[in-house]
Amino acid sequence: MYRTHTCGELRISHVGQKVTLSGWVQTIRNLGGMTFIALRDRYGITQLVFDENTPKNILPMLEGLGREYVVKIAGTVIERSSKNPKMSTGDIEISVSELDVLNKSEIPPFTIEDDTDGGDELRMKYRYLDLRRNPVRKNLELRHIMGQEIRKFLDGEKFIEIETPYLVNSTPEGARDFLVPSRMNPGEFYALPQSPQTLKQLLMVSGFDRYFQIVKCFRDEDLRADRQPEFTQIDCEMSFVDQDDILSIFERLAKHLFYNIKGITYNEAFPRITYEDAMKYYGSDKPDLRFGMRFYELTEKVKGKGFVVFDSVDYIGGFCAKGCSEYSRKQLDELTLFVQRPQVGAKGMVYVKYNTDGTFKSSVDKFYSPEDLKTWAEYMGAQPGDLLLILAGKESSTLSALNILRLEMGDQLGLRDKDKFAPCWVVDFPLLEWDEDEKRFFAKHHPFTSPKTEDIQYFESDPGRMHANAYDFVVNGVEIGGGSIRIFNSELQQKMFSALGISKEEAEVKFGFLLNAFRFGAPPHGGIAFGFDRFCSVLGGSESIRDFIAFPKNNSGRDVMLDTPSKIDKKQLDELYLNVLPIQKK
Ligand code: AMO
Repeated sequence: MYRTHTCGELRISHVGQKVTLSGWVQTIRNLGGMTFIALRDRYGITQLVFDENTPKNILPMLEGLGREYVVKIAGTVIERSSKNPKMSTGDIEISVSELDVLNKSEIPPFTIEDDTDGGDELRMKYRYLDLRRNPVRKNLELRHIMGQEIRKFLDGEKFIEIETPYLVNSTPEGARDFLVPSRMNPGEFYALPQSPQTLKQLLMVSGFDRYFQIVKCFRDEDLRADRQPEFTQIDCEMSFVDQDDILSIFERLAKHLFYNIKGITYNEAFPRITYEDAMKYYGSDKPDLRFGMRFYELTEKVKGKGFVVFDSVDYIGGFCAKGCSEYSRKQLDELTLFVQRPQVGAKGMVYVKYNTDGTFKSSVDKFYSPEDLKTWAEYMGAQPGDLLLILAGKESSTLSALNILRLEMGDQLGLRDKDKFAPCWVVDFPLLEWDEDEKRFFAKHHPFTSPKTEDIQYFESDPGRMHANAYDFVVNGVEIGGGSIRIFNSELQQKMFSALGISKEEAEVKFGFLLNAFRFGAPPHGGIAFGFDRFCSVLGGSESIRDFIAFPKNNSGRDVMLDTPSKIDKKQLDELYLNVLPIQKK
């Protein structure tokens, strides 16, 4: 028998018992007459003691032990003379009577401690060792519990979990596909699903009126902290529902998770903010609502006073940073440099200090009187002691720069507390989005998203003004989920395809199976998909979803542990009728 207990289990009540434990050697402390070993497994750490009571044959074995050796011990639980209140097992230790070395270990490339000395790349190469560390293990435990709670909730609401295939054709989310060549069908390829979107809609046609799946999705897109090429969705679809039905049931799911994972109860409904307001007030369709600092447009109020920067642009706006009137010249210069960085893209920044004595000091004092500045301050909700930060330029790029500046100020003022959660729904997205490069409309969500009934009249005359029955679930500035009420009628779907410049023939080739299905009594339906990795990382208080994925890829899409993607040999290529072209360096 390898163990009678785990390394996290023994307490003062076990004193006197004979136990067997197995685990990894965390540390060895040799204090002359006594040696202490911290023995670790998934459940915790137990201290082993070797002293004059230890059988004589064991002591020489200690010399050969090293960190991460796998050992089995037997011994008696004794009360510790110096207890460690920080450890759950800190009241006891094991007086060891038998020791078996089950396996040796090379010296690990980084310390298996909460605060390791290993860099990112090294930890990823030896991810199986990284996973031995408490914080990483805890993240995967949180993910497991989230998965259990999601299944419990959805099962309770009569959702049925149905698996859908991974070898499919192109799905409509609009990223690049990962392709898989078919040996049995030479020259032909499967695409890995960017989501099970079309398949879950087919399941609605089949009559499964509440479907869900915790499912892998694959997208070949540029990676960031919150994006992986393969990631997991909590994918859901329902029939005979409208937008309110969906928001209500999935708000309950989110509340169930907040309560069961974080112990947080929300008595109020989550705020719903329109896409238009989110852009106008926060410059983002995923606003971080943990703090205020909404934007105020100043365009009409500030033009015509001889300040060329303001007079020559189409948008001027800003926000009030509470309690920041004492920002120094240096801090303001740094903020100006910050907004001028290419990623932010502003030309400059105007500030107005509303001093605690009621006076004003601004970077535009030459052009505006204190009375002018007071009008701005009052309009922007400022009090003495506050600071106004103002940017000017093209509307969309200025709003986007203001968004980045707002988040930066949120960070500087400590307002983006990872233990605070501000969920909201963003609704009324535009149906279509104009692409200036390709000179055509794209679906803002995907081509199966239905337009608002009152907007259907604009399909031909003014497609850009149409709104969609689409919604995103946002927490702390992170888009956790998105979905829509679908089109379920072939004619309307056809209209949508033509607005997107997709011909009847092309639609038939790409999505003929779905259009066909719609001819056989498709029910009204809609759904949502949550990014499972993102949901875990937000609840776990991390910005990186990688922390919540057992074996993630790096930012170049590589798995450095498996060393993949990798070259394949000629024989395999031949079987697939593939030829790799010489690689042109970009
Ligand atoms: P969407 O494309 O908005 O919708 O995706 C839903 C959610 O999936 C997460 N997500 C990602 N997470 C990690 N890495 C990625 N590369 C990545 N891409 C997306 C996000 C996002 O909100 N079929 C529709 C859903 C529907 O309409 O029902 C869809 O996939 O959290």
